[in-house]
Amino acid sequence: MNHSSFGFESTAEEVTEGVDLSGRVWLITGVNSGLGYESARVLAKRGAHIVGAARTLEKAANALASLNIDGTPLACDLSDIASVRAAVETVKARGITLDGILANAGIMALPELKQQHGYELQFFTNHVGHFALVTGLLDQLTESGRVVMLSSGAHRMVGDDPIEFDNLSGERDYHPWRMYAQSKLANILFANSLAARFQQEGSGRTANSLHPGVIRTNLARHIPDAEGMFERMTITLKSVPQGAATQCYVAVNPEAAAASGRYFSDCAEEDPIPAGRDAALAERLWTRTEAILAEL
Ligand SMILES: NC(=O)c1ccc[n+]([C@@H]2O[C@H](COP(=O)([O-])OP(=O)(O)OC[C@H]3O[C@@H](n4cnc5c(N)ncnc54)[C@H](OP(=O)(O)O)[C@@H]3O)[C@@H](O)[C@H]2O)c1
Repeated sequence: MNHSSFGFESTAEEVTEGVDLSGRVWLITGVNSGLGYESARVLAKRGAHIVGAARTLEKAANALASLNIDGTPLACDLSDIASVRAAVETVKARGITLDGILANAGIMALPELKQQHGYELQFFTNHVGHFALVTGLLDQLTESGRVVMLSSGAHRMVGDDPIEFDNLSGERDYHPWRMYAQSKLANILFANSLAARFQQEGSGRTANSLHPGVIRTNLARHIPDAEGMFERMTITLKSVPQGAATQCYVAVNPEAAAASGRYFSDCAEEDPIPAGRDAALAERLWTRTEAILAEL
């Protein structure tokens, strides 16, 4: 367990105060909105070069321009495997070395089943797309590089069968939140498996996952009466600067440098559900995801 000097109310600026990221390069997915946008702003403020990924090059470039960041915009539609592979090739072709990948983009609780490449869209976008991007870029990641996966406390809403290997298309039975939960559990399991691989190869690389808190962002766009949902919530919401804190903490704060295969919330380690610590489940998901990608 790492000791953390920060907590629920900490902001991304506070957790990165005094951290010099000059000469460091961070790739952030979902750079054009919410927590990814704030993370890009703050990591750039600390000196990092930002490779900002969004669905389109225009969105990525506009986001960096509006932040006044001289970064590298990158088109990467995580639901489109050709786009993800092109993004990987672009980073490689430009010879970009990465100090970290902040796998931040995500979609939540689509009211009706949508699919891509035959798979349920949240599972594909949140998990498979990021799996392809991150594993495709491992040769570009430095020996002390950090991979940070945005999960969610909503991973706790998975059903009895936490990863529905026989229902990854979502066709047997679709529930918006259960499928979101599954995709966010998959983010945890991917980070854990990646951490185990890093450890096996004796590298200093790390992989972790996290819950950012509950924050009013565009993520709720698919929820009917999202405003009503936020109003009825009894928990305290975080602001966007607070919401981006845990991912920035895990990404660059020295306190978290040694952590790997861990799950964080409020800038501190926390236990996910037991399935989120199930190494056999993580390996099964890894193998299945590789098989999915091999067919595409
Ligand atoms: N906000 C919360 O309360 C909360 C709680 C727990 C976990 N999280 C996690 O935090 C992360 C960031 O969410 P947020 O709150 O900042 O939401 P947001 O404002 O909606 O940002 C999500 C980002 O993901 C991008 N994205 C969606 N689908 C994509 C695709 N197919 N390809 C590439 N990019 C795609 C969006 O791009 P477009 O703008 O083009 O759609 C946007 O940039 C997500 O992974 C989410 O699951 C958030």
